[in-house]
Amino acid sequence: MTTSVNLLFNGSAYNCQPEETVLDALLRQQVPVPYLCKKQTCFKCMMRSLNNTPPIRSQRELKEALQLQNYFLACACYPVRHMEIALLDDIQASQMTARVREKNSLHANVTELVLECETPLAYYGGQTLLLLNGRHLGRKLAIASPSSASLRRRLEVHVERIDNDGFSKWVFESLAVNDTVYLSNIRGELLYQPGQPEQSLLLVSWGSNLAAMLGLLQDAFENAHTGPVVLLQGVTEPGQLYLQAELQGISGHFPNFRYIPCIELGPVPKGGLQSTVDKAVAQFLPNLTGWKIFICGNQVQASTVQRQAYLAKAAMKNIHIEVVSI
Ligand code: FES
Repeated sequence: MTTSVNLLFNGSAYNCQPEETVLDALLRQQVPVPYLCKKQTCFKCMMRSLNNTPPIRSQRELKEALQLQNYFLACACYPVRHMEIALLDDIQASQMTARVREKNSLHANVTELVLECETPLAYYGGQTLLLLNGRHLGRKLAIASPSSASLRRRLEVHVERIDNDGFSKWVFESLAVNDTVYLSNIRGELLYQPGQPEQSLLLVSWGSNLAAMLGLLQDAFENAHTGPVVLLQGVTEPGQLYLQAELQGISGHFPNFRYIPCIELGPVPKGGLQSTVDKAVAQFLPNLTGWKIFICGNQVQASTVQRQAYLAKAAMKNIHIEVVSI
């Protein structure tokens, strides 16, 4: 870079001189930015570019999922053009409002909320967010809509009923169409990465965390994914399954997609297995070399399948986990 460029940060413009990093430019102008090492090891200075792809060098140490979302390390970023940037903490804390456009029952214990965001927000299908009612009731939920829906400011989530839980009670009994809700903390590495259409994908979820896999699956098919995609949906008993017909319909439409409900107890529907998810992986996918694995469940479920995937030779860097307790 031979001329200085502008950095737009928190509504103010700062200049960045030739051969100066974003971190040094902000510090020079007394902007408090967290940092420790300045050597791309502590990740304290991670920021996100809101307008352009950051320079490659500033993303080299980050996971692919973070690179795709334009995160970068400020201590390694020598900008070549003007950048609008935000700190990770500010992004996670910023709250957006949305209006409930539809409230659909997917199952006696699962409700789908279709939200219209008041301002555009960027997300990938499969990531998570915090949905709040403004009175401190909130829950981390997976995004069931594809990233293309974000252009229309639309966002879909599934909420599962939990006994003696104030958030469930609010969603199932009080929340109505046209009500306002609050969203924050859009994040997570369960997301489809375009550019590898032949990649083999294993998607694993339990209960209403199926939402994450629906978001990811739609992104995959909207990007013309051609490699095998296997979805394992774990439930204790068959009555807990939902969207079965829709998922079987997708299998009919995309021959590279296979949906396998894994039932622990009781009768097994057509195409399903009487098995826990980890045993199903051991039995049917004993070699996961080269596969990408996406897991969304509670801590115990996620670790059990992660271990099984590792035993089946999946590379740890290819196992992506989102822990969402339900
Ligand atoms: S300051 Fe440590 S990674 Fe940038």
